[in-house]
Amino acid sequence: MKRITTIEEYHTEYAKSVKNPEAFWAEQAADFTWRKPWKEVLEWNFEKAETKWFVGGKLNITENCLDRHLANRGNQTAILWEPNSPLEEARKISYSELHTMVCRMTNVLAQNNIKKGDRVCIYMPMVPELAVTVLACARIGAIHSVVFAGFSAKSLSDRINDSECKMLITADGGFRGNKTTPLKDIADEALLSTPSIETVLVHKRTEQNINWTEGRDKWLHSELAKVDANSVATEMDAEDPLFILYTSGSTGKPKGVVHSTAGYMVYADYTFRNVFQYKEGETFFCTADVGWITGHSYIVYGPLLAGATSLMFEGIPTYPDAGRFWEIIDKHQVNIFYTAPTAIRSLEAAGLDFVKPYKLDSLRVLGSVGEPINEEAWEWYNHNIGKGRCPIVDTWWQTETGGILISPLAGITKTKPSFATLPLPGVQPILVDSDGKEIVGNGVEGNLCIKYPWPSIIRTTYGDHERCFTNYFATYKGLYFTGDGCKRDEDGYYRITGRVDDVLNVSGHRLGTAEIENAIDEHPLVIETAVVGYPHDIKGQGVYAYIICSGEIADEDKLKKEINETVTKIIGPIAKPDKIQLVKGLPKTRSGKIMRRILRKIAENDMANLGDTSTLLDPDVVADIVKGRV
Ligand code: WT7
Repeated sequence: MKRITTIEEYHTEYAKSVKNPEAFWAEQAADFTWRKPWKEVLEWNFEKAETKWFVGGKLNITENCLDRHLANRGNQTAILWEPNSPLEEARKISYSELHTMVCRMTNVLAQNNIKKGDRVCIYMPMVPELAVTVLACARIGAIHSVVFAGFSAKSLSDRINDSECKMLITADGGFRGNKTTPLKDIADEALLSTPSIETVLVHKRTEQNINWTEGRDKWLHSELAKVDANSVATEMDAEDPLFILYTSGSTGKPKGVVHSTAGYMVYADYTFRNVFQYKEGETFFCTADVGWITGHSYIVYGPLLAGATSLMFEGIPTYPDAGRFWEIIDKHQVNIFYTAPTAIRSLEAAGLDFVKPYKLDSLRVLGSVGEPINEEAWEWYNHNIGKGRCPIVDTWWQTETGGILISPLAGITKTKPSFATLPLPGVQPILVDSDGKEIVGNGVEGNLCIKYPWPSIIRTTYGDHERCFTNYFATYKGLYFTGDGCKRDEDGYYRITGRVDDVLNVSGHRLGTAEIENAIDEHPLVIETAVVGYPHDIKGQGVYAYIICSGEIADEDKLKKEINETVTKIIGPIAKPDKIQLVKGLPKTRSGKIMRRILRKIAENDMANLGDTSTLLDPDVVADIVKGRV
């Protein structure tokens, strides 16, 4: 696959991709291993939320991630695994070893009755076996649904049930910092209400005591011992679903975003090579968890498609101390490092003493993802980690987009702190006002939409296509709506300003306000809740919950602790409110709608801009809330 190498070339390629998208993407797709070529490059209709790429093409993505590399780079490291504890040895898995592991794992799936189209849920720590199970699903044609191992039993069972997964793959436990997460115990609780699960495969990691359900539970290592390493990949249609990944929206339960095979493959590879300007033999370290889209596209699929060495880290940035990322970079001579602004800000807060012991001279490119990066964090990253010589790529994208849409090309696009800069070839952004009218020209701001499909656009929301249409294609006719606000400056550079809907971005994790409100409402003393986001120095956004309780509360601290426990139990610790304010009433319009705008201003401590409160049902509640602000 060709890589853009100059800014002039970027502009030519971009122009080509807009003038004739089909020819452009056919050219990018040519170098992969196809069992049968496609008949049509693209069929689409945004008014039905329908997109098909490489129609009629047949392939298996794992032949492109693994088999195709065996001849040239069989001995090169594919996955370089760094354990949670620096005292445990790192693992280097070559392309040929990874191929063997995936083939065996595929045979385990087959022996356990998994067939093409079945859904398999994966709830695992960040160990190589996680990547292996993901790839084995893809090889047999089962649809993987990875659930981040920080989610609660309730979140896990909801996700399993929504897509009726037949199998769960988990581990006894996971190591994170000085904690162990009892993954099997959590899974057991989830499995009390998941009738579709037939088999549970358990990877041994922590060796902690676990409960066992005979007939259902099987040790992964015993299953692997029963099979050989011969596996022929299942032939998949270009549009067969590859995976489901659940993500939060402004309403309802998290939805299962579905990505399909060929378009996702072509786009993950294209963006990996171009954005990071990946060069043969380099080591790429993405700090995300495979439980998020960033891990799917830029730990597993993108780097392996490109034949890179992908560093997978089991632990957390602050264990044993806040120098861990920098230690790993030196130890493994990392060339490209990709992390989230929230991590940068927290490591900045820990102080430069944790950075100073390390050389960081192997680094060539730095990346940022998941939330807007503020100028201050950008400068710190640039100066102290990149030593002023590594281009920073601020990559904007979403679970639904499958890959990076707006980003500099490392070392090619002139960067500007806090700007994601320019759309990648094949991506046609458009800013619209609230009526859906296009905002033309530069030096403008609006809602960010995309007007033409790119290969890894969301195909559907699992089991409910209407929801996909309503969420993304109904707000503005004929456009994909991102949910983000955006500025386009005088140079035509894009700067994402944040969500314009009721979605929060807390430490780069996406959470719906409604989802958190519903969880809090489960506490027996809670009558009503309103959740908003507010600016948080480290997390980007914090969660502020206004709660009405029944009766007099004798011990507020105890209640707040219980509310946090309730949220942890229903969603997971990432959704815990940072601030809880008990209130007597909420600002509502006469029709009963909560005026979140006012609550947001109070949470932000911006009392001068509360706006008109006279139309409220009871204007006095606002003064009370302002007085009790926490
Ligand atoms: C939302 C998507 C993209 C993978 C990780 C998050 C925000 C993402 C940026 C960025 C400003 C960003 C947006 C987007 N976001 N990257 N570089 N600058 N905002 O995926 O969980 O689906 O969240 O994250 O608000 O809509 P996600």
